[in-house]
Amino acid sequence: MNESDVVYRFEQGLERISRAYRAAFSESVTEQSLRVVNARFTGPQGELTGLLKLIPELPKEKRRHFGQLSNQLKDEILEAFRQRLESLARTALEAEMAGPHLDVTLPGRFHTPGRLHPLIRTKHELLDVFISFGFDVVEGPEVELHENNFDKLGFPPDHPATDMQDSFFIASSPADGPRKLLLRTHTSNVQIREMSRRRPPLAVVSPGMVYRRDDDVTHSPMFMQIEGFLVDRHVTFAQLKGVLTRAVQRLFGSDIPVRFRPSYFPFVEPGGEVDIGCWFCRGWDKRSTECRVCKGTSWLEILGCGMIHPFVFEQVGYDPEKYTGFAFGLGVDRVAMLRYGISDIRLLFENDPRFLTQF
Ligand code: PHE
Repeated sequence: MNESDVVYRFEQGLERISRAYRAAFSESVTEQSLRVVNARFTGPQGELTGLLKLIPELPKEKRRHFGQLSNQLKDEILEAFRQRLESLARTALEAEMAGPHLDVTLPGRFHTPGRLHPLIRTKHELLDVFISFGFDVVEGPEVELHENNFDKLGFPPDHPATDMQDSFFIASSPADGPRKLLLRTHTSNVQIREMSRRRPPLAVVSPGMVYRRDDDVTHSPMFMQIEGFLVDRHVTFAQLKGVLTRAVQRLFGSDIPVRFRPSYFPFVEPGGEVDIGCWFCRGWDKRSTECRVCKGTSWLEILGCGMIHPFVFEQVGYDPEKYTGFAFGLGVDRVAMLRYGISDIRLLFENDPRFLTQF
């Protein structure tokens, strides 16, 4: 094609497009067809775009002139497109307004709001009580070193809890050296961690999940504990009894019976366990023998406790001649089961909405 042919084609093209686009736009009655028509002129494969590609073939002195004309035309087309789009939208809105009204009698779509898991609620309730007594809340890791979970708490190396049959050990990486890692079997690891980095006086509670090789109606391989410990000069067992009795009665009411039984844990001396009257069957005034939760005994064990052993104080660098303290470890699941009358602990971890929406 010689240069004058190109000029001719260009002029023809511009003229054809400027004659055609308005009519084509007003014939489009839907947004979609309007967009198709617009693309036919200004899209990447459009007619006008095709002309613009011819510009380098025009004689030098005409390029500027035709370039300007084409751009002007493009602006015009895009402006007309925008206006037509607007008018189509307006027409559609008017048609909708003129049509039948919105039917407000149709039922709405509901969604059920979420709620806290009964275990989490119980945890919050328990923490609230201890916070009101002035305890700090801290958390510890669930994957723990053997020494923090056992050794520094005075477990002898052959204690059954340190056995593979009873605890979940984790293969440590070669970089860890011979250190043994496991899923903590109780929250008492936090005693070691927290006491090692603070000096008395201190009062701490620490909630968290713990893991044991156990699985039946009242034992789950994963469950929740709250550890508590208080260290100062002149702390006595009477204070331990006072704090725990008050805490339990705040949760279950002041008429709930609480009993302390002697028991053994390597990290306390003396040690004990606390039972509370089965809130489920309230058997302590009726002597029911059929309750599934307390198995007819009318008592439920909810925590272990005691005066912190001098051995533990030595491990964390406290002088056992100067300080005394108490510690307790409370099973949150047990408390939740009692508070909400749940007879199988496994229900707490199955995530069945038929169960969870009852709380
Ligand atoms: N760690 C003990 C357990 O899990 C509970 C406990 C904590 C006992 C603190 C005494 C003092 O059984």
